[in-house]
Amino acid sequence: MIADPRSALGHSPDDDRILILDYGGQYTQLIARRVREAGVYSEIRPYDLSAEAVAAFGATGVILSGGPESVGGERAPEVADAVLELDVPILGICYGMQALAAKLGGAVSPADHREFGYAEVEIPADSPLLGGLVPEGERLSVWMSHGDRVDGLPDGFVPIAASANAPLAGMADPERRYYGLQFHPEVTHTEHGQQIIERFVHDVCGCASDWTSHNIIKEHIDRIREEVGDGKVLLGLSGGVDSSVVAALLHEAIGDQLVCVFVDNGLLRLNEGDQVMAVFAEHLGVNVVRVDAEDEFLEALEGVTDPEEKRKIIGRKFIDVFEREANRLEGIAWLAQGTIYPDVIESAGAATGKAHVIKSHHNVGGLPETMRLKLVEPLRDLFKDEVRKIGVELGLPRELVGRHPFPGPGLGVRILGEVKKEFADILRRADDIFISELRTYDLYDQVSQAFAVFLPVRSVGVMGDGRTYEYVIALRAVETVDFMTAHWAHLPYELLDHVSRRIINEISGISRVTYDISGKPPATIEWE
Ligand code: XMP
Repeated sequence: MIADPRSALGHSPDDDRILILDYGGQYTQLIARRVREAGVYSEIRPYDLSAEAVAAFGATGVILSGGPESVGGERAPEVADAVLELDVPILGICYGMQALAAKLGGAVSPADHREFGYAEVEIPADSPLLGGLVPEGERLSVWMSHGDRVDGLPDGFVPIAASANAPLAGMADPERRYYGLQFHPEVTHTEHGQQIIERFVHDVCGCASDWTSHNIIKEHIDRIREEVGDGKVLLGLSGGVDSSVVAALLHEAIGDQLVCVFVDNGLLRLNEGDQVMAVFAEHLGVNVVRVDAEDEFLEALEGVTDPEEKRKIIGRKFIDVFEREANRLEGIAWLAQGTIYPDVIESAGAATGKAHVIKSHHNVGGLPETMRLKLVEPLRDLFKDEVRKIGVELGLPRELVGRHPFPGPGLGVRILGEVKKEFADILRRADDIFISELRTYDLYDQVSQAFAVFLPVRSVGVMGDGRTYEYVIALRAVETVDFMTAHWAHLPYELLDHVSRRIINEISGISRVTYDISGKPPATIEWE
């Protein structure tokens, strides 16, 4: 499927690379993603990165992010000499522009009016970086979020954009290849924002578009082979996106040296175990050990109703089962994990750069202490959308790769109160009806997460001539960007009606279906 990884490029797809220095802005991750969407490798580092690390990064260009401080404030972070000494193009965004201007002798002061949200900027026709983005005489709609502004340009700079509240909303010194934008090209609200980023990385920095799925895969395969040599690698495969892509990538890189353990805990979605086996074992030829541990999990959960207690039991059981299987397998030297770049950034706190906290993998419950395996995390430098793209390129079905998140404890947190097989069976079927109807209505990809919840309360109903007294299913669908806050999805009544009828008619034991209209906060996404 993938041609010989060594034959291609002759250099690495991350040879051209953009260093993003984080001044604490809320959009820093977005900048990194936009640069990568432009086909150029980028990494986020703290603004106070040591001079040696700045030099060692090997940047083709630097982007200074936005940030909450005020230039001139007591602890205002500055642009380090080491950055200027690189002698590469620099783009300062918002605070980054102000810090760059201040560093080079320009003037920054509080604006008369703070600007938050949409603004319009005028662009001189011959504006470097921005020229020609909109027809002459028209303004560019941009996203602003600033209190301070640049009032005087440093020597060598020309203005390249002007808004009502920031006459110097953009600046350029084409000679030194230094640019500043008061607005945020990385957010989608800014018209032609992606194009501005592309102009900077391609036209100004001269970066090639080598950071593509195809090249990323080749590069990672090389790295994995080098790292693990002929060692055997163990992977806890959950069927979720990250561990699935790790499995496909490792399989491509090291074939039979990879052993996956898939634990069927009885709390999975309908036919999930069979699907995982069909995709990985049958279709891709991955070495997967399927462990049927349903009874073991359900026994451990018997009589337990407290949600936290349930989570703990499920987590512990995972470790037990996984460790038992791993110990049965011989000669394992490595444990693979599906850690991705946002996990790394989040656990480090982007601005502190204290990286490498091992993600406690929800399904494997963390690295078993007694196993002392070395850790391999091949997706550590990838964003979720990149993980999805390489998954598809590696031959995983789009449907699997585009799946909504599913919590590690599975249906265990979606059955309120005690977990019983009977309840899990009902819930699996209800969830499957809801999800397949969402797909039929072409709405699955429009919502961020959707699922059914089992409520162990009985409610009176009437079916045919008889009175019923059965359980309740709640449906939940949310829209969210980061899963920290969420809105309930305004699904069409027609769909909800259809799903409700199907669930009550097709699943015995259910007499009522409700739709959850709570946002997060105050509610959470899962019910528990
Ligand atoms: P809440 O319910 O906290 O959920 O609003 C936010 C997101 O996290 C998912 N979630 C989990 N994912 N292991 C996971 O891998 C877990 O234990 C877990 N608990 C919640 C939840 O599905 C939602 O996407």
